[in-house]
Amino acid sequence: MGLHDLLFGLPAILVLVNFPVQALTGSALLLDSSVTYLLPLGFQGNVSDSFVSTNAGVGRPNDTAPLEAAAKASFVAFDEEFLDLLPPNASLELVAQKPYPFADEMGVWVWSRNEVWFTGPTINGSNHLTVLNLDTMRVYEPKTSLPVVNPNGGYYHEGVVYVAADGNATSAPAIYGVDPDTGEAWVVVDSYFGLRLNGPNDVTWTNNGKASYMFFTDDPLSSLYNDGLQPQLPDAVWRFDPQQKTLLPVIDRSDISVPNGIRVNKEGTKLYVTSTPEPYYYGANGTASSAIYVFDLDQDGFPRDQRLFGLAQRGISDGLHIDDSGRVWTGEADGIVVRSSNGKILGFLNAMALLDAAEVEAGYSLQNFALAGDKVVILALDKIWVLQLTTQIVKCGGAGQADGCLS
Ligand SMILES: *[C@@H]1O[C@H](CO)[C@@H](O)[C@H](O)[C@H]1NC(C)=O
Ligand SMILES: *[C@@H]1O[C@H](CO)[C@@H](O)[C@H](O)[C@H]1NC(C)=O
Ligand SMILES: *[C@@H]1O[C@H](CO)[C@@H](O)[C@H](O)[C@H]1NC(C)=O
Ligand SMILES: *[C@@H]1O[C@H](CO)[C@@H](O)[C@H](O)[C@H]1NC(C)=O
Ligand SMILES: *[C@@H]1O[C@H](CO)[C@@H](O)[C@H](O)[C@H]1NC(C)=O
Ligand SMILES: *[C@@H]1O[C@H](CO)[C@@H](O)[C@H](O)[C@H]1NC(C)=O
Repeated sequence: MGLHDLLFGLPAILVLVNFPVQALTGSALLLDSSVTYLLPLGFQGNVSDSFVSTNAGVGRPNDTAPLEAAAKASFVAFDEEFLDLLPPNASLELVAQKPYPFADEMGVWVWSRNEVWFTGPTINGSNHLTVLNLDTMRVYEPKTSLPVVNPNGGYYHEGVVYVAADGNATSAPAIYGVDPDTGEAWVVVDSYFGLRLNGPNDVTWTNNGKASYMFFTDDPLSSLYNDGLQPQLPDAVWRFDPQQKTLLPVIDRSDISVPNGIRVNKEGTKLYVTSTPEPYYYGANGTASSAIYVFDLDQDGFPRDQRLFGLAQRGISDGLHIDDSGRVWTGEADGIVVRSSNGKILGFLNAMALLDAAEVEAGYSLQNFALAGDKVVILALDKIWVLQLTTQIVKCGGAGQADGCLS
């Protein structure tokens, strides 16, 4: 979800230019995990600031030092497992830049073309499907046979890029399919018994060996693009079954009020959904949490046994991706946060290193990124960074349902 879409509509010219490659050599810092729950009495933290800006004790410089160092680090680890993913001298390579925000959502690795498909903030009332080729680092807008109207999240499944799109007043919110090789585009789902969807936010697929299912989240954001037409359906997580030609609501708004990012794990056994509180209270007020929930997927492909998996460090947990080891990566205000499959926060890519201070000041935050084999591609608004990892965390081919991979 582009929260800033509520706040901004920057006028800008969509000129696709490629900048010379630069790099930010980042330091990785390992902190004892206890700092996440135990600080010197007298510490002062604030939900408007990053965790690493927490003042760990006025007049006690030695207590504050670790967090001060973390504020300067590009990568903050609470567990060796996260550090092991980073090469020595891990650095962020700047592969694309524009004079305005153009990259913040979707982050789909189209592995067959070694491309990352993404979308950007709303400019002059619309946003665009854009592609970064990881071989050439060229950025381009794909020509599609049908306009994909106000795209948001997406997923690559069996040779098709599925795009969740907010639509506009005349084109209903929909899930589109796009053939990345030919640009042929079509609408997969756009209504429920003649009612418009509210605004598909993100989409994922799974195949349990008997059938394949598409899950997507539907939120109220499309009213921003459709002259204020208010939602007619409750927000929900929906499941599309192409075998039975059936669209079913499977998670109610009383369970997740505004569902946002969504992914199934590689084994196809768990469904993860991020939740945005509404209105956008980050703190204690409000009836919903800025959280990640996990469900078991039963043998018929239905989500069951909802559990709270994590709360955002700060801001909302937006884009969500799962690597082949079951680690859950989310875009949050503090950065790209990596949790073990048991929910332990292993570390994060520090938003303070990834975003310009002016962007943070203006209310922008990190929302999404792509896991692309052995790389993390970070959609940092006016910049795209690439982080090289020590190992391939998502693979494609086989039977895996890993994020972005062919099943
Ligand atoms: C956005 O609007 C501004 C002001 O009208 C205009 O200068 C600019 O070219 C527009 N950009 C795009 C991408 O339409
Ligand atoms: C948190 O930070 C904001 C912005 O700097 C400030 O307005 C607010 O007073 C702070 N709250 C606390 C409890 O310190
Ligand atoms: C604080 O750290 C400095 C440098 O490591 C050390 O010399 C000093 O003894 C420490 N002070 C306390 C009170 O621990
Ligand atoms: C890391 O970078 C520093 C400074 O550029 C260099 O001196 C050092 O040899 C590098 N270490 C490794 C393991 O690459
Ligand atoms: C909605 O988008 C379509 C496709 O880009 C466009 O033709 C149509 O004019 C748009 N409708 C409105 C009301 O902007
Ligand atoms: C939260 O609720 C308290 C008590 O009603 C109120 O004073 C405060 O302004 C609310 N905070 C926000 C962010 O709405």
